[in-house]
Amino acid sequence: MEFSVKSGSPEKQRSACIVVGVFEPRRLTPVAEQLDEISGGYISNLIRRGDLEGKAGQMLLLHHLPNILSERVLLVGCGKERELDERQYKQIVAKTISNLNETGSMEAVCFLTELHVKGRDTYWKVRQAVETTQDSLYNFDQLKSKKSDQRRPLRKLVFNVPTRRELPYGERAIEHGLAVAAGVKACKDVANMPPNICNPAYLLQLANELAEQYQSISVESIGETQMAELGMNSYLAVGRGSDNESIMSIIHHKGGSASQAPIVLVGKGLTFDSGGISLKPGEAMDEMKYDMGGAAGVLGTMHAIAALNLPINVIGVLAGCENMPDAKAYRPGDILTTMSGQTVEVLNTDAEGRLVLCDALTYVERFNPDAVIDVATLTGACIIALGKHASGLMSTHNPLAHEIMNASEQSSDKAWRLPLWDEYQDQLESPFADFTNLGGRPAGTITAACFLSRFTKKYNWAHLDIAGTAWVSGGKNKGATGRPVPMLTQFLINRSGVPTED
Ligand code: BES
Ligand code: MN
Ligand code: ZN
Repeated sequence: MEFSVKSGSPEKQRSACIVVGVFEPRRLTPVAEQLDEISGGYISNLIRRGDLEGKAGQMLLLHHLPNILSERVLLVGCGKERELDERQYKQIVAKTISNLNETGSMEAVCFLTELHVKGRDTYWKVRQAVETTQDSLYNFDQLKSKKSDQRRPLRKLVFNVPTRRELPYGERAIEHGLAVAAGVKACKDVANMPPNICNPAYLLQLANELAEQYQSISVESIGETQMAELGMNSYLAVGRGSDNESIMSIIHHKGGSASQAPIVLVGKGLTFDSGGISLKPGEAMDEMKYDMGGAAGVLGTMHAIAALNLPINVIGVLAGCENMPDAKAYRPGDILTTMSGQTVEVLNTDAEGRLVLCDALTYVERFNPDAVIDVATLTGACIIALGKHASGLMSTHNPLAHEIMNASEQSSDKAWRLPLWDEYQDQLESPFADFTNLGGRPAGTITAACFLSRFTKKYNWAHLDIAGTAWVSGGKNKGATGRPVPMLTQFLINRSGVPTED
């Protein structure tokens, strides 16, 4: 898809389609009014006859309006003018895109970016329009024997902004939106890939491909031999029941000076989580291919920041591993000595994510990071707490937590903070080891983070639980969402000092 911005009047556009809004009840936006006047009241006549109420998401496609140069005009219901918020804006844009894509307009000039959206500026509206467009055109058909081919797909979109002064903001929004969208696509593609293809070695392969694509990127990897030398016994234990070798891929983006401390992102990369000896029930077990959603999010974010060539140092770690039951598999009751030297009593082999992450989090101490954020589909309890709408954020460092919350708000990639009070730590007590890997039913998301917090004392740290947000479950809409790539990329854009507003 090709995007551009322009500041012009609707009647002067010569395009396959012009997209303009209509508010509820039957109220034309200023742009629609301009078209109405020139066409001799064509639109207002239709609306008076009841063809379009203006409810959010309603669509009416018109052809060959009198005196209008463009072939088509798509009227888009925008709901009540005063109720147009960001959620509704994104829904309207998504519907518009599928409509355009299905009705054969290969290009369009869209005036929806001129609508007033509560608390949001032109930069935001254009960037979200780009991201939403790419999101709604995504499909994963690499493994279908027959691809669905669109006869006349949408190829080119022009977003109109109210004044020429806003053009540079719109242009920057397109650049950022495209980078985020590329990261989201990379994240979705790897996450949707089935676990017989996407194993830890496959994650490494994708990291290497990224390094080939961008000058700023280089890759190292740690396999099982090196893990053993480093004492990463907890990580190794989780992968022991699998035939696929555990591999930790380390992606370096060098955009800043050599002396600048890096920001480190660590992604849980369980390419399949069967539960191990504490085997999961069969229902929806296929979705545990998404248990590498954290690693997918980190890989996608590295894509986005490399595309933007951000002037900072960032390290992305993909903690690749597979959790399987087997004669060699680790068991409930085992006591593991982690790389940090702390010992852990395994009470449930299905609480494996924290056992992989704890060693990865110890490993990254060597980079003397400015901050470490781990990203993980860590607990089913997070879905119980926050549902599918927000990622769970936990941190022992308030300024870092606030920065992440800001990035979340700016990018409309929702997160909600949960407490990490010491009181919860007691739930991890063990009679035999330093602590257990299980905190019991109450506050399962927080006790998982408490576990990780015992390995992150040497730097500023935050944890994102994306169990609810990384993918959409069940049915034909099943699929990766690309989250939290927008949030993390925004966080890093902010860190690099590039402005993202008008
Ligand atoms: N990967 C799962 C968490 C998960 C489950 C994410 C369902 C998304 C959907 C994790 O490894 C796990 O199994 N967690 C257990 C922890 C429990 C054994 C303490 C859980 O959430 O049930
Ligand atoms: Mn598990
Ligand atoms: Zn898991």
